[in-house]
Amino acid sequence: MRHIAVLTSGGDAPGMNAAVRAVVRTAITEHVKVSGIYRGYQGLIEDEIVGLGARGVANIIQRGGTVLRTARSETFRKPEGRELAAKIIKRRNIDGLIVIGGDGSFKGASALMQEHGIPAVGIPATIDNDIYGTDQTIGFDTALGIAVEAVDRLRDTAASHDRLFIVEVMGRNAGHIALSAGVAGGAEAILVPEIPVDMQKLIERLHKAHDRGKNSIIVVVAEGAYPGGAAALEPELKGRIPYDARAVNLGHTQRGGSPSSADRILASRFGYFAVKRLLHGEPGVMVGTSESGTVYSSINDVVGHTRDIDRELLAIAQTLSI
Ligand code: F6P
Repeated sequence: MRHIAVLTSGGDAPGMNAAVRAVVRTAITEHVKVSGIYRGYQGLIEDEIVGLGARGVANIIQRGGTVLRTARSETFRKPEGRELAAKIIKRRNIDGLIVIGGDGSFKGASALMQEHGIPAVGIPATIDNDIYGTDQTIGFDTALGIAVEAVDRLRDTAASHDRLFIVEVMGRNAGHIALSAGVAGGAEAILVPEIPVDMQKLIERLHKAHDRGKNSIIVVVAEGAYPGGAAALEPELKGRIPYDARAVNLGHTQRGGSPSSADRILASRFGYFAVKRLLHGEPGVMVGTSESGTVYSSINDVVGHTRDIDRELLAIAQTLSI
């Protein structure tokens, strides 16, 4: 391979820039030309591609968001869109792609490989941490830190006013942020999309907490755990529990800001190994991390699975929040 390209796609995640920097600098060290594709697959279709150099990615390791920008492309979901993308790749003499993103981004990479034979390697980056084939995704650690800081702040007010806060965190389909933020913030209840909400049980739990003398309550709810999220739960609970309930939605504050050290390091490792694999190994994989170190999973396997929440941790949370 003499020329590779990198793109970021789907929701932005803190640490994406650190991954772009690692990809560019590893490629240059390998004497391979590297281009950046703006706005994910949409920018690819529209030929928004520029050459990148080592100095061009200076001072971005500490920046949130993605300097390459990102998009969720409807056109690319259709075979005609992917046909256009493949034509641009060939016309630009790009020999391989590094795709930084989440599940939807890897579905795109998988389709490009299968339909047009374009070699690709994936780097998992999403605050949701729901990607099969890796214990951690880029962005999760930072988002979790923001969520826990918010829970801690809300706890101060909750304890001062004998109040209950329903804190909505991100995660339309996955409860990893909610579960981890709930455990780290000592939440009294954690609601995740993987487990249907039992309203009666939740109300009973909150009454028991009151009987045990708890004067402040934090309920962490993942965006997709309850239709309408925290805003809809608040009126559902009002009058049925012995606390004044307030809803707070942390929303996109969890996605922005400077990446944590852990995310910068993870992104640097992923970027380095993704390029090495694209140039010297079998492509068609996603780089991941596990207890044994850096691991590789077939992109086709990754898109066919989801990573379940740690149900043991959920049981621990229930025991510890009495
Ligand atoms: O996948 C990351 C994520 O932040 C999810 O947690 C959330 O449901 C979704 O993206 C929100 O997407 P958007 O920013 O497009 O509304």
